[in-house]
Amino acid sequence: MTAPRTTPAPVRVALIGAGAVSEYHHVPGLRLDPRARLVAACDSSAELLEKRRAEWDLAFTTTRYEELCARDDIDAVIIATPNDTHLPITLAAAAAGKHVMCEKPLGLNADQVRRMLQACRSAGVVHMTAFTYRFAPAMRYLKHLLQTGALGTPRHFRSQRFLDLPETSWGWRQYRAHAGAGDLFDMTIHRLDFAADLMGPIDRLCGAVATFAPRTQTADGQPCPPSDVDDWSALIGIFRSGATGVWEGTTLAKGYKLGGFGHEWAEVNGSEASAVYRMHDPNRILLGRHGGDLEPVPVPSPFLKPAGSPRDPAQGIPGTVFRYDLAWEFISAIVEGRDAVPSFADGLAAQIAADAVLESFARGTWITLPEPS
Ligand SMILES: NC(=O)c1ccc[n+]([C@@H]2O[C@H](COP(=O)([O-])OP(=O)(O)OC[C@H]3O[C@@H](n4cnc5c(N)ncnc54)[C@H](O)[C@@H]3O)[C@@H](O)[C@H]2O)c1
Repeated sequence: MTAPRTTPAPVRVALIGAGAVSEYHHVPGLRLDPRARLVAACDSSAELLEKRRAEWDLAFTTTRYEELCARDDIDAVIIATPNDTHLPITLAAAAAGKHVMCEKPLGLNADQVRRMLQACRSAGVVHMTAFTYRFAPAMRYLKHLLQTGALGTPRHFRSQRFLDLPETSWGWRQYRAHAGAGDLFDMTIHRLDFAADLMGPIDRLCGAVATFAPRTQTADGQPCPPSDVDDWSALIGIFRSGATGVWEGTTLAKGYKLGGFGHEWAEVNGSEASAVYRMHDPNRILLGRHGGDLEPVPVPSPFLKPAGSPRDPAQGIPGTVFRYDLAWEFISAIVEGRDAVPSFADGLAAQIAADAVLESFARGTWITLPEPS
């Protein structure tokens, strides 16, 4: 596989989708990186764009992504729009030679994601999936402990993501046509990705989804069509290594507000020790050995951020600020002419697993996952 094309700094970046995640993750991340220039934005809402033009000091805005992709003063795009638009926007951006970071889930199904990966490879551009939690310090340290054998042989992986969210409308997120699936594609897909990153590929799985809240009202009391996606998802899986995995995610866990971050717990039980990542306390892990208890251990400084990142890990809310390193990795891959991590290939592997959860539940059977390519 040839490496993607190198683009020298400053890398001129455009955001496509100027909504919540662009505001919370991507703009602060780009602002921290002296090699990046946020020059333009596209959003289908002209009203939001007008607001963002002033807030983000943009040179160019448009409601049409085709117009943005046609410009030769833009090197890279970050796609942060509803899930059903990721495929056409990626195809347009790659055809125009733009490097692409796209939000998860990359598409509505694995076939769409294969087309996105192929288009970026053919165009020789960097492609990255915005799997945020790979950048959490505790996650980076857990991976190091596994790679160095500090936990012994990994045997079990366990992930819980419990949120206590209102039962009002999720907007586009609550319709299969726009989102593909609910909790499964919105939240559990991150956990399928970091599980594979820690434990290696998933071989087979057995999954289930359920929908409890009808969501027929918006937050301000307006009626809307009911949701047709899941708000609970779960699976058990067997990794190729023979290790086992258990995942559960829900937005309906009453009493799990926990400062707005909700409950996030991911752990590996190895033959020598257990280690735990928790999103609300990402600068510490819990570590326990045979016969003892899990105890908090600070994440050593080399794992608090990627090498070279200008972010000061002592600044800001720990559960928020590690997300800014997504932009650092994307820009680093572009200026160094290398693949980004996680790439669209990782987005495809997670999509294949998430699709298999739906298929497993529909057919009432275990599914052996196909090879990603
Ligand atoms: N990585 C993470 O942790 C994380 C967190 C939140 C959201 N996300 C993902 O980011 C994406 C966006 O989520 P969000 O919460 O920001 O949603 P949002 O609804 O707040 O923002 C999406 C924006 O896209 C715009 N849009 C819709 N169609 C468009 C089109 N064709 N062209 C241009 N703009 C268009 C909308 O007007 C809106 O402003 C989703 O794929 C979501 O799954 C990822």
